[in-house]
Order: sequence, then C-alpha cells, then structure tokens
Amino acid sequence: MNWEEFENTARQCKACGLCEGRLTVVIGRGSRNTGRILFVGEGPGENEDKQGVPFVGQAGRLLDLALEALEFSRDDYYIANIVKCRPPQNRNPSLEECEACLPLLRQRYRLLKPKIVVALGAVAANNLIDKNKTITSMRGQWFDKGGILFTSTYHPAALTRDSSKKPDFYYDLKQVKAYADKYINK
Ligand code: URA
Repeated sequence: MNWEEFENTARQCKACGLCEGRLTVVIGRGSRNTGRILFVGEGPGENEDKQGVPFVGQAGRLLDLALEALEFSRDDYYIANIVKCRPPQNRNPSLEECEACLPLLRQRYRLLKPKIVVALGAVAANNLIDKNKTITSMRGQWFDKGGILFTSTYHPAALTRDSSKKPDFYYDLKQVKAYADKYINK
C-alpha cells in the first residue's frame, strides 16, 4: 500500500463508532522520509477534528515549541495519533477504539519504517509499549521492539495542567534527539 492508498483507506474507515461523530479523519503531519522518528499522541481534539491535522491546538503548540527548541529537524519526524477520529467530549479512546485503529498505525510503520517511536502520554504508551504500566513509570525508558526503538514521555496537554512535568518532558525529548543523532543516518 502506498501513501495515497493508505490515506484513502483511512478516510473511509468505519472500523469503530468514532466515525459517526467525526468531521475529518486526522491522519498525520510531518516528514514522510523513511527511517526517522514517529511521534504518536492519543487522538484528535476539537481543533484537529476541524482542521484534519494532528496537534494543531495548545498541546500541539507546546510540542512544536519543544521540538524547535531542541533543534529537531522537520525532515526527521512525523506526528500521528493512536485513534484518527475525535472521541466525543475529548474522552480517552476506549480499548476497542484503539484496537480498531491500530492496523492503520501499523500500516504507517510500513510506510515510514521509523527507527524511533515516541509515545506521547499514557494512552499511546499503554497501546504501544506496555498496557499495564503508568506513564510516570515508563517515561524516558527505551524498548527495542523488532528493531524499532520505542520510548514515551508525558502528553504535551499534561504540561498545561501541571507545569512541574515540563523538565521531565524536555529531558525525555532531549534523549530522543540524542538517539536520533546517533541512529538516524541522513
Ligand atoms: N492531543 C492528541 O493526542 N492528539 C492531537 O492530535 C491533539 C491533541
């Protein structure tokens, strides 16, 4: 499946009930270069649902600012979510909704062949790394899964609620940058 086929499939997806309330299917944004970094959030909020682009609201601005401050190259990352349609009232997506959407994320692995996957927040970390651990206990740790390095940090929206998490968030992203500088061949 190429990118066009993937996007067409995603736009028509009716694999779970979230399709009923969505305005758009929020697929992803960023570089389609292979062998780079894939950031994965939770799911679209109101702004993302309207614009069809992930992380365009307050949390997205925080993420963009952090990536810019740490000198990530825009060529080196793509940003997606566990679920591609907005959960009503921004509730957490259910286990079934996440599971219904994961095949489309796996398809993204095939297209992007990421070297590093960064789960942003508990929903992404529980789905991608370990479903039984808290984000506080997992963040900043690295796991090799089939040759892809997985790590996690706080969801940027968590920083707007609790600014004491900011230093850890920056620290974790700094580690990601260090790994990227080491493992990503340009
Ligand atoms: N939060 C997410 O997890 N994803 C978005 O796209 C926006 C906010």
